[in-house]
Amino acid sequence: MDKLFLVSFLGLLITAYAVAGNMLYDNFNILEELVEDPFWISERGGKVLVNVDSFGAVGDGVSDDTEAFKKAWNTSCSTPKSAFLVPPGRRYIVNATKFQGPCADRLVVQIDGTIVAPDEPNDWDPNLSRLWLDFSKQKGVVFQGNGVIDGSGSKWWATSCKKNKSNALTIDSSSFIKVKGLTIQNSQQMNFVISRCDSVRVFEVQVSCPGDSPNTDGIHITGSTNVILQDSKIGTGDDCISIVNGSSAIKMKRIYCGPGHGVSIGSLRKDNSNAIVTKVVLDTALLRETKNGVRIKTWQAVQISQIMYWNISGTTKSKEAMKFACSDTTPCSNIVLSNMYLEKKDGTAETYCNSAQGFGTGIVHPSADCLNSHDKGYILIDHNENNAELAERNGDRIIHTEL
Ligand SMILES: *[C@@H]1O[C@H](CO)[C@@H](O)[C@H](O)[C@H]1NC(C)=O
Ligand SMILES: *[C@@H]1O[C@H](CO)[C@@H](O)[C@H](O)[C@H]1NC(C)=O
Ligand SMILES: *[C@@H]1O[C@H](CO)[C@@H](O)[C@H](O)[C@H]1NC(C)=O
Ligand SMILES: *[C@@H]1O[C@H](CO)[C@@H](O)[C@H](O)[C@H]1NC(C)=O
Ligand SMILES: *[C@@H]1O[C@H](CO)[C@@H](O)[C@H](O)[C@H]1NC(C)=O
Ligand SMILES: *[C@@H]1O[C@H](CO)[C@@H](O)[C@H](O)[C@H]1NC(C)=O
Repeated sequence: MDKLFLVSFLGLLITAYAVAGNMLYDNFNILEELVEDPFWISERGGKVLVNVDSFGAVGDGVSDDTEAFKKAWNTSCSTPKSAFLVPPGRRYIVNATKFQGPCADRLVVQIDGTIVAPDEPNDWDPNLSRLWLDFSKQKGVVFQGNGVIDGSGSKWWATSCKKNKSNALTIDSSSFIKVKGLTIQNSQQMNFVISRCDSVRVFEVQVSCPGDSPNTDGIHITGSTNVILQDSKIGTGDDCISIVNGSSAIKMKRIYCGPGHGVSIGSLRKDNSNAIVTKVVLDTALLRETKNGVRIKTWQAVQISQIMYWNISGTTKSKEAMKFACSDTTPCSNIVLSNMYLEKKDGTAETYCNSAQGFGTGIVHPSADCLNSHDKGYILIDHNENNAELAERNGDRIIHTEL
């Protein structure tokens, strides 16, 4: 089906539902609200290069390059139009470090080499637990390059889950951030965390950890708005993507996920009370042997609404290929599924719903009829008969979804 058609169809299907069933879809304007291409800075040339090697970094995979990175950061951060450069072909060992902003305008963090965390848990400074490379209070910064951020997590994976493990790359309290091309791997815990940010665009990023490494989420989004993740390949031991605690307007497009637990929305922990996750789109994803495919899970007082999934296919390991487990006190609402085909090898895939409301259109396999909650009196319309005609009548409602 033509994409524009599908989108306009969804739009009017929602209208039709609203009219017919008196449902509250008034606020379902996610596609318009997502910032498609705002202030992304694209810089070429004219940069002041701040090479970590000029500050004493050795990059031999043995020496401690932490101090050199900190010095280079201080210079780079205070110099307008600078590029903090990690040159290619070397391995830099760097301890847990806070790269704080705000910085001068137009900073580029160019990572072409490999940055490696020390691998010995006993050497980790307990005062810097939970974070390894932590960039905070940045504005308009571009992170790019063909380099690798390697958390050296293997010894940590074997240690108790009570130990404070670190996330590899964190971007915190920042806005207008672009991340392109990097590889993030082998984190002690989560690989790439976007927290308390606004307007972040991530593309062509690769995340990898072994399928049996514990709690190694790929990309974790918390307390953030206007985030676009696209054309990225994620294979980990936990969620490929997890979206929690007060995040909204999150769009994911062309995502390859596996191994891992799939794409997860909502808190899996009990510590986020009164959080709302809303306006999330997963558009075109291929899942390979993920534990679940797509999953929503909430605890009390976590509100989830306006979640759209479309064109998602692949294989799952558990039979709950789609799982919408919402709390009875704050049900999930407006979950829309379109063109989904998820299957478990033995053909037993199913959809689990609890207090989740929404609908499917086009092919939805396994069937998600359990979203059509029986206690709310929805009136179903027959899309197959009506969609072409309705689409024609409502040609002016077309919304463009391309990024
Ligand atoms: C970097 O700058 C901060 C704040 O200005 C300062 O406290 C710190 O000592 C500097 N670090 C290095 C390695 O120069
Ligand atoms: C980095 O960590 C190592 C222990 O792994 C420690 O010996 C070293 O002093 C740390 N470097 C800095 C600059 O803090
Ligand atoms: C951790 O911080 C405490 C208090 O700020 C300090 O006394 C201690 O020396 C620090 N430990 C390390 C390993 O730096
Ligand atoms: C983990 O971190 C918390 C606070 O961040 C601290 O209170 C606790 O002692 C740490 N535990 C270990 C094992 O380092
Ligand atoms: C969740 O978000 C709220 C603000 O929206 C913040 O105060 C709280 O610390 C966050 N919780 C966690 C666990 O990040
Ligand atoms: C649907 O997803 C597949 C990958 O699973 C992709 O090849 C195809 O282009 C997508 N279709 C549309 C209309 O985006």
